[in-house]
Amino acid sequence: MAKGYFITGTDTGVGKTLVAGGLAALYKKQGINVGVMKPVATGCKRVNNRLESDDAAFLKLSAEVEDEYELINPISLEQPLAPSVAARLSNTKIDTDKINTAFDTLCERHESMIVEGIGGLLVPIDEYYFIVDLASEMELPLIIVCRPTLGTINHTLLTASYAREHGLEVKGIIVNESTEHCDATLKKTNTDEIKRLTGLPILGTIPFNKGLDIKNYNKEVLIKIFSDNIDKDIII
Ligand SMILES: Nc1ncnc2c1ncn2[C@@H]1O[C@H](COP(=O)(O)OP(=O)(O)O)[C@@H](O)[C@H]1O
Ligand SMILES: [Mg+2]
Repeated sequence: MAKGYFITGTDTGVGKTLVAGGLAALYKKQGINVGVMKPVATGCKRVNNRLESDDAAFLKLSAEVEDEYELINPISLEQPLAPSVAARLSNTKIDTDKINTAFDTLCERHESMIVEGIGGLLVPIDEYYFIVDLASEMELPLIIVCRPTLGTINHTLLTASYAREHGLEVKGIIVNESTEHCDATLKKTNTDEIKRLTGLPILGTIPFNKGLDIKNYNKEVLIKIFSDNIDKDIII
């Protein structure tokens, strides 16, 4: 069984890529041979005659790995849609064996793996195959990334409860301020309430910082913010 984490979120845009990259950068800084993966990406752009994902590019930079792009992101789809839909509309079939083979290869090369999901747990990859199924197959503990703003209690509780129902181990929650000007009371009370109602540890709360733009990789800012705001016991 591989070491590391599967990073999921309560939604798209909550900061999964940033958190996955931040963790990978901390692993790397501690001298751990970490690998990264974005198994399925949509909304990819054509670069050098192939489709590439911004998320995969950020993860690769954060972990400072030399792995082939096709292993880090085996499934890349152009349309910014759910994977099952993007595949259907482009007349392709998502090959889940390709994901598993890439994951196995990366696990052989690296001590620990940080894998970023897509959207939340019930995003369909294939007709009846969801992110939750992929996370189960990879057997990595889950980290749930959520936002601190209004509505997050419902989304986070649903995600944690669904993960547990499916037998996934949930390591804890990271609250990420992905947008500017979050009310401090809302952030504090939502975080406390999520902790109380899930019984899960809050592994970190990441403040908003303009230097954390995933399209503009800044190693120093990423490492500083994650070192200051993450429970370092999770780096294993
Ligand atoms: N704490 C933060 N401070 C500043 N910008 C952030 C923060 N968290 C996320 N962002 C920005 O918000 C956007 C969404 O974050 P991202 O990690 O891509 O979310 P997801 O992977 O869940 O879709 C990105 O442009 C990212 O750079
Ligand atoms: Mg992402």
